[in-house]
Parts: sequence; structure tokens; C-alpha cells
Amino acid sequence: MMMTMIPILETPHGRLFQADCLDFLGSLDSESVDLAFADPPFNLGKEYSSKIDDNRSREAYLYWCVRWLDEMVRSLKPGGALFLWNLPMWNLQLGAHLASKLTFRHWVAVDLKYSLPIKNRLYPSHYSLLYFVKGEKPAVFHPDRTPVPCCRHCGGELRDYGGYKDKMNPEGVSLSDVWTDISPVRHAKYKKRRANALPLKLMDRIVSMASDEGSLVLDPFGGSGTTYVAAELTRRQWVGCELECSAILDRFDRIDLDREHLADIQEDKNTLFTDADLERRVRAGLPLSPKYKLKSKDGRCTCPSMTSSSSLELFTSDV
Ligand SMILES: C[S@@+](CC[C@H](N)C(=O)[O-])C[C@H]1O[C@@H](n2cnc3c(N)ncnc32)[C@H](O)[C@@H]1O
Repeated sequence: MMMTMIPILETPHGRLFQADCLDFLGSLDSESVDLAFADPPFNLGKEYSSKIDDNRSREAYLYWCVRWLDEMVRSLKPGGALFLWNLPMWNLQLGAHLASKLTFRHWVAVDLKYSLPIKNRLYPSHYSLLYFVKGEKPAVFHPDRTPVPCCRHCGGELRDYGGYKDKMNPEGVSLSDVWTDISPVRHAKYKKRRANALPLKLMDRIVSMASDEGSLVLDPFGGSGTTYVAAELTRRQWVGCELECSAILDRFDRIDLDREHLADIQEDKNTLFTDADLERRVRAGLPLSPKYKLKSKDGRCTCPSMTSSSSLELFTSDV
């Protein structure tokens, strides 16, 4: 990688530069990045500690976005993935531009309320996550599987899988292009930086889907460093920039908090039922159908009625 700048942070896997995104991106080698992600300011007139102008004309904002997007496209390897997080109104325009250079894969609707209800409009309830690849096919694509959605009180399934229970993958449900299981960063312990820090679960999902250990992940809008933390903790290489880096430096000083959080996140993916939901069922006396095949902790598949010496026995029924 052609890097004449001096990093403000170097970790075992990554490098952060305190720099403007256009200067930083211009210094990257072409076709060097496996996964590029961007969560830019949305031009909503917000105040950032980096004092950027977040209130440009529509044309000026789109022109600026196209400039750094083109640099990200240049830096992508063939088969590399580009994800763009923004409001639907901007991603509509930016997606059309990207589609002239890359192959469109998905518009993922991430159900996170981002505004108050607006008169004469529908309540804005999703962010847009655009997913493109360079060339025809992604070099890496292994989406997480998610647990069966269950009631937060009794652990019962929210949908009826009818006669398909025995056909369901013990690793969980296939990921769709509507994500309803991402919660905003609320807990004081994990909230590193005002309202714009993305949830670690979101970044872990993106990083896991489109990169492997050792891949290079790029994010030119560091913010509080969620992308970098997700990459670091899953042994990807990463590189990025931010105008005001103190929140990221602080976060990496206390990365063990994120390590614990990520362990919890990873425990609850690629499994058909989370332990928390199974425990809720025990408390509610709600047996799990023995038709489901479950993955045991040692990775083997089993069905509830075959499981001995665990509380799963309590769930077995002849339903
Ligand atoms: C929406 S936030 C990113 C949040 C991040 N994804 C996270 O999870 O913490 C956008 C960030 O871009 C930074 N930024 C804005 N303009 C920039 C520029 N020209 N170059 C580099 N960073 C910039 C802002 O300081 C802000 O922290």
C-alpha cells in the first residue's frame, strides 16, 4: 500500500490516519482493498466534533460523495465489496452512480428509526445499506445465519414454521435483505460517541459477510471506530481515516469492552435458537418441538429429544 502519511494509531491489524478522506483515499494503491465501507455525514446540518460542514447544497453534497466513492471504487480489488450506509434519499442517487461502475448486489433495509414522524410523510424507519461488488461476482460471500425470531418474554417462535421445522438449518435462518434485529447503540458502556456510532453487530455482520481473516477492510469515515474494532477483533487487516480521532483512540484503549460485546454477538449468530430464548422457554414451560435439529456446543447437529444431560431435555415435547 502506498502510504506517505503517518498513522495516528497502529494496532496489530490496522492503521488509522487523522486526515481528510479525499487526501487519505488518494494515497491508497489501486485494487488493494477487499471490503470498503462508508458511513458519511448525511448532510442533515448536524454538529460534528470535527467541525465539518454538514449543511451543503444538495448538488455540493452529492458531488463530494461521488469524489470519495470513486476513490473507494479505485481502491477495490476485483471481486471486492463496497457497502454504503446512508439515508434512502441519498443512496437512491449515489446507488445510481455506483451502478455505472460496480455490480449491484443488494439494497438492505436496516430497520432503525432515525427521525421523528414527519407530517404528510411515512415514518422514516429504515436506513439504506447498499452493497456492490467490483466485477461480476463477489470474491467472498458468507452471510451470517440468524436465530429464529422469538418472543422476548416467553421465548416462543414469532412465526409458525409449520411442517418445515425438520428442514430448518441448525445454523439458523438465511439472512434476508431486511434486517430487523439491529438495535441502536444505547447502553452507556458501549456508547462511545453520541448518536452516530453504528452498532457493533451491524459492522460484524458486514465484515463477516464480505471478508476473511487477513482481508483488508477500508473505512474512510472512522467516527468512533466501529468498523475498525469489528475488523481488529476478527483478525482482518484494516485501514481508515477520520478528522477527529480522539474517540477512536479512546475506544482502542478499552477494546476489551468491545471484545466482550462481540463475544455475546457471535454467540447469538449461526444458531437456530439463542441460549437466552431457550432459557426463556424453560421458565415459561414452553417445550421446543423435537422436529428442530439443533447445533450442540461441539458443533454436531442433534434434535432436542436426542439431547441428554442438558436443560434442552426440558424442552422436548411430542408436538
Ligand atoms: C457518521 S460518522 C461515522 C460513524 C462511524 N461509522 C461509527 O460507527 O462510529 C461520520 C464521520 O465522518 C467524519 N468526517 C466527515 N467529513 C470527513 C472528511 N472529509 N474526512 C474524514 N472524515 C470525515 C466525521 O468527523 C464523522 O466522525
